Amino acid sequence: MIDLVEEHFRKEPKTWLLTGVSGFIGTNILKRLLTLGQKVVGLDNFSTGVKENLQQVQKLVGEEAWSLFTMIEGDIRDFSTCKRAMEGVDIVLHQAALGSVPRSFANPGLTNEVNVGGTVNIFQAAKEMGIKKVVYASSSSVYGDSQELPKVEENLGNALSPYAVSKLTDELYASVFSNSTDMDLIGLRYFNVFGPYQSPEGPYAAVLPLWVKGMIKNQPITIFGDGETSRDFTFVENVVDINLLAAHAEKGKAKLRAYNCACSAAYTLNELHDTMQEKLAEDYPHVTKLEKKYGDFREGDVRHSHADISNASEDLGYKPRYVLAEGIDMALEWYKNNLL
Ligand SMILES: NC(=O)c1ccc[n+]([C@@H]2O[C@H](COP(=O)([O-])OP(=O)(O)OC[C@H]3O[C@@H](n4cnc5c(N)ncnc54)[C@H](O)[C@@H]3O)[C@@H](O)[C@H]2O)c1
Repeated sequence: MIDLVEEHFRKEPKTWLLTGVSGFIGTNILKRLLTLGQKVVGLDNFSTGVKENLQQVQKLVGEEAWSLFTMIEGDIRDFSTCKRAMEGVDIVLHQAALGSVPRSFANPGLTNEVNVGGTVNIFQAAKEMGIKKVVYASSSSVYGDSQELPKVEENLGNALSPYAVSKLTDELYASVFSNSTDMDLIGLRYFNVFGPYQSPEGPYAAVLPLWVKGMIKNQPITIFGDGETSRDFTFVENVVDINLLAAHAEKGKAKLRAYNCACSAAYTLNELHDTMQEKLAEDYPHVTKLEKKYGDFREGDVRHSHADISNASEDLGYKPRYVLAEGIDMALEWYKNNLL
């Protein structure tokens, strides 16, 4: 299905607004869109995004494809910036947000301003600019304390963090805009995404890049909790695929307000640690000597996360192309070339 969708966009190129373009997922989407000959407007305030990511994409896609890209440095909290960024745009892929559960506990007001205020701006600007399709990043955190496994879209628990509340609120706003306009808004609940361009830096870095950096640099690694916490780790190219599929879906095809985006396979943190250690050992023999250390469980962390992806498969034609082990190989390759 993804091949057909890519072929379609190649034949009939569109103009896309990609918010959060210099972030981890945004950069991967940008690379694919430019490779497919799409025109892309990027909007980012570089708060967590990295300018160097864009330079890497420029090198990879070449000057001809790069000329299809326009960068707007700006903030989604500014409504007029959102509208300006949508001039001549056919499809919006909204990725900009402040991620991280701990960050949202440290500063819930800011998380709300960006993730909710900014997203409402994007939806309202899209409405005013007559855009028919908006695909936006939600999160598996919306499942909160639901014990059900695997997670099915309709069954949510209570939110466990300000970040989860912000993503759930985005989904509620999207429903309202869907019902009150002729826009098609599709939410994608990403489950622990990893891959190239994900930063290992800063206090809110995600687990995989943090551990790769620690292992390569022979620094101690702490696993929060007992290591039996599980996650449905999703390689970023699967996320790019589902964005294109959702962008292509005819109006009405997506019956749910948001879809799971994952591999539908859960791995514990202990398993992830051991797999990474094993894979890195070939190039960095010292990693075999690194002992696991366990710390406290983190506030607001969901214990187990495992997605049912049958709705995304039926309605959007989504099928994860890369399983965890393949994704880890590709991610590690990137980190080996970019970390040191
Ligand atoms: N990475 C994951 O595992 C994961 C999981 C679930 C959901 N998500 C969601 O996916 C999206 C992308 O996440 P990511 O991992 O690429 O994060 P990221 O932090 O790497 O990228 C977010 C981008 O948004 C930009 N941004 C932040 N605030 C902005 C603002 N006010 N105005 C303009 N730009 C702003 C940042 O500079 C950055 O480039 C986010 O909406 C995130 O909540 C990610």
